[in-house]
Amino acid sequence: MTEETPLRLLLVEDNPGDARLIQEFLRDALPGDFHLEKVDRLAAAREALSDGKDGYVVLLDLSLPDAHGLETVRGVSEAAPTAPIIVLTGLDDETVALRTLQEGAQDYLVKGRLEGDLLVRAIRYARERKRLELERAELYQRAREAAAEAEAAALARDEALRIVSHDIGNSLAAVGIHARLLDRMLPRETRDENVSKRIAAIQQLVDQMETLRGDLLDVARIEAGHMSLDPERHNVGDLVSEAVELISEVADHQRVRLEFELDRDLPIIVADRGRILQLLGNLLGNALKFTPAGGRVRIGAEQVEDEVRITVADTGSGIPAEDLPHLFDRYWQARSSRRAGAGLGLAIARGIVEAHGGWIRAESEVGVGTTFTVTLPLEGPGLPNDQG
Ligand SMILES: Nc1ncnc2c1ncn2[C@@H]1O[C@H](COP(=O)(O)OP(=O)(O)OP(=O)(O)O)[C@@H](O)[C@H]1O
Ligand SMILES: [Mg+2]
Repeated sequence: MTEETPLRLLLVEDNPGDARLIQEFLRDALPGDFHLEKVDRLAAAREALSDGKDGYVVLLDLSLPDAHGLETVRGVSEAAPTAPIIVLTGLDDETVALRTLQEGAQDYLVKGRLEGDLLVRAIRYARERKRLELERAELYQRAREAAAEAEAAALARDEALRIVSHDIGNSLAAVGIHARLLDRMLPRETRDENVSKRIAAIQQLVDQMETLRGDLLDVARIEAGHMSLDPERHNVGDLVSEAVELISEVADHQRVRLEFELDRDLPIIVADRGRILQLLGNLLGNALKFTPAGGRVRIGAEQVEDEVRITVADTGSGIPAEDLPHLFDRYWQARSSRRAGAGLGLAIARGIVEAHGGWIRAESEVGVGTTFTVTLPLEGPGLPNDQG
């Protein structure tokens, strides 16, 4: 509906005096041709509007023989959702007139104060306002459809990932079992070191793929916003020591020294043990991966008010400042770093920390090292049934 389409007015007014006055104003003040139709009932107005003709501007008296007040406006906008409506009201019902704007009218004019110019301007503004309103509604509708489509696509992707991961998991388990059986079935006399090495390599690859499969599932869960936790009370010191123990063999092998800086009285924390070990494992794993032989990795833990702060600091390659903002994005890896892994560890680490109500951040200097700081609230995600 634009200014170029010939103006069609529908005057809905049952008072012949008012109707005549308005018609005169329009004739005097409206430039160019216009078409005016007059009815004196809501029913007649609805009929005129719903016979498919578009482009009407409705001048609507609020008290008609068959409708009154807001119901008149509702009746008209229902019959013609795209028609601009200007309400004509008596001197004493301006409060009602204001409410008609919420019901879909674009403007209102007080009858006792009408003049031609005012009427013409109101008509022009009402058309423009309605046009913008319809445009906005359409954009909103399109945005909603796009969001719904994106959500459906994400659900379909997660479902596909879940099914594929499940099948891959079954196959991986079978590969592992066959490798073990092969190992046992080989007669002693044909067994040589080479064969055993290869069987061990198969098993190691199965473990790696199983880890990747788990990481992909975790990232999908974090993305969907439902990482499930199994929170219980744990001593922070025990959790940290356990994580370090799991990694110490790798550290020895790489000749990287592991150092502790744990407060003596570390508190109890409500947390998912498996997930916290996974989080610390990811941070320690990275520290070892990016620290050359002869370097150090220091793990610290302290209580700060009602939070616990865990740091993992290494003397490794460091991360350029411009890379730090991307560090926790999934699949992100520094261009300069060795690309072992999938770039999921830190995205999962952040997902775990946030599911516990905490936060994680990184500080780094190229050539000096990197420090990750994790802060977890002691109450964490709370205990199931909130036993206190
Ligand atoms: N301690 C660190 N020192 C230097 N760079 C790091 C360190 N930790 C992470 N990075 C950089 O951040 C990237 C992303 O780390 P992230 O743990 O998410 O993935 P990844 O270790 O490459 O693979 P994955 O953890 O999935 O096996 C790494 O590839 C590396 O470039
Ligand atoms: Mg990693």
